[in-house]
Amino acid sequence: MQSPQDIAFLKHFSMVIGSLVLVAIVLIGFATYLYSLQPPDANPLKAAKVDARIAPVGAVYAGSTGQAAMAAAAEAAKKAAEGQVAYGGTLDGSTIFGQLCTGCHTSGANGAPKLEKAAWAARLAQGEATLVQHAINGYTGPDGNHMPAKGGNPSLTDAQVEATVKWMMGQIK
Ligand code: HEC
Repeated sequence: MQSPQDIAFLKHFSMVIGSLVLVAIVLIGFATYLYSLQPPDANPLKAAKVDARIAPVGAVYAGSTGQAAMAAAAEAAKKAAEGQVAYGGTLDGSTIFGQLCTGCHTSGANGAPKLEKAAWAARLAQGEATLVQHAINGYTGPDGNHMPAKGGNPSLTDAQVEATVKWMMGQIK
């Protein structure tokens, strides 16, 4: 059984709830209207900026995918190294020899001929052009000793290697 007070309470209470819902609907409508007045964000860089901000800091390469990625990176680094000019592009044989070739040709490491007449007599007989080609492309002698192509620095230009070989020939005592 509902008392008359209960009925009065329910009546007033639903009126309050009803008016609050109405206020909420009006506010939602007003907010939607205000938002529609805002000009749209037309900056095309915005998406790119957001992408950059939320991009992962690092990446983990694992398994065969990782190996492929690492191989690709190494390949790119090698290409970049080849694209650069070694030792500032100098054609000064003494500079290039001092930076690279001396490592083997001064000590005689790995059977490299030192700059002495005895070591070069037979080689000089091949002619300078052949020596230059061997220095550029690499060469393995009859004893199995190996001269790496461009002394192991692929960023040297052919002209730089040629200049260095000529300089070496002038240094043989
Ligand atoms: C890693 C060691 C090494 C480096 C570095 C090196 N050489 Fe050699 N080079 C050799 C060896 C070993 C031989 C001898 C190969 C043989 O005939 O048995 C050789 C031989 C040569 C020859 C003679 C080739 C022939 O036909 O007899 C020339 C010319 C030469 N090197 C030039 C250079 C120049 C120029 C550089 C630097 C750009 C250089 N080398 C750097 C190891 C090296």
